[in-house]
Amino acid sequence: KIADLKGTKQGTLRLGVITTTKYFVPRLLGEFCEHYPGIDISLQVTNHQQLHQRMLNNEDDLYILSQLPEDVELHSEAFLENPLVVIARKDHPLAKKSRIPITDLNGEPFIMRETGSGTRHAALKLFNQHKVSVKVRLELGSNEAIKQAIAGGLGISVLSKHTLSCASNELTILDVDHFPIERWWYVGYLSGKQLSVIARTFLQFLIEETKDMGVPNFSRNGNNLIAV
Ligand code: PGA
Repeated sequence: KIADLKGTKQGTLRLGVITTTKYFVPRLLGEFCEHYPGIDISLQVTNHQQLHQRMLNNEDDLYILSQLPEDVELHSEAFLENPLVVIARKDHPLAKKSRIPITDLNGEPFIMRETGSGTRHAALKLFNQHKVSVKVRLELGSNEAIKQAIAGGLGISVLSKHTLSCASNELTILDVDHFPIERWWYVGYLSGKQLSVIARTFLQFLIEETKDMGVPNFSRNGNNLIAV
């Protein structure tokens, strides 16, 4: 309390975030800590299923996720788009094509995120809707490892467009119908939770700082993706 009166916030900020927010949350935390050097941070980066478990155990102050849970009451706010796209290696035969029917992905070698991943859930839901059956060659629990596997020629995948913000120039986005899968990132906290001053301050900071951020924007030049 005394610390608050002095305006120097102290204590611990506990954040539970899904995997793809690692492309901007750590940077924001760096800035935040410059303003408030007295605080400690616990940042748990995990998939949706594990985040859900953390909510049930009330383990964090704030959550950043893209698929809101059905059985946990959260105060939440959407703050940034998080579209999912089909990613392939640049020399993939479909890379030159436009408006690729989703059924052309039938039988494609595919690298899938692990059970419990929101990305996996959203991709499979769309594939099921269109009766598309990809050939899962590999399951990986890491977006970065999936990008490496695509570059290594193991197959294509569906990932958040944000994972391309540190893209290798070996990859491209396929122009497949029904993609991108439109999603958002939400920041939220358990209803009934009394947020600490630090958590409230970070919540405001996050919303303010991401207002103009947008999704990484690429255009295709031949098969090359260029950031624009
Ligand atoms: P996931 O979520 O790690 O649970 O797949 C990532 C996302 O929704 O972008």
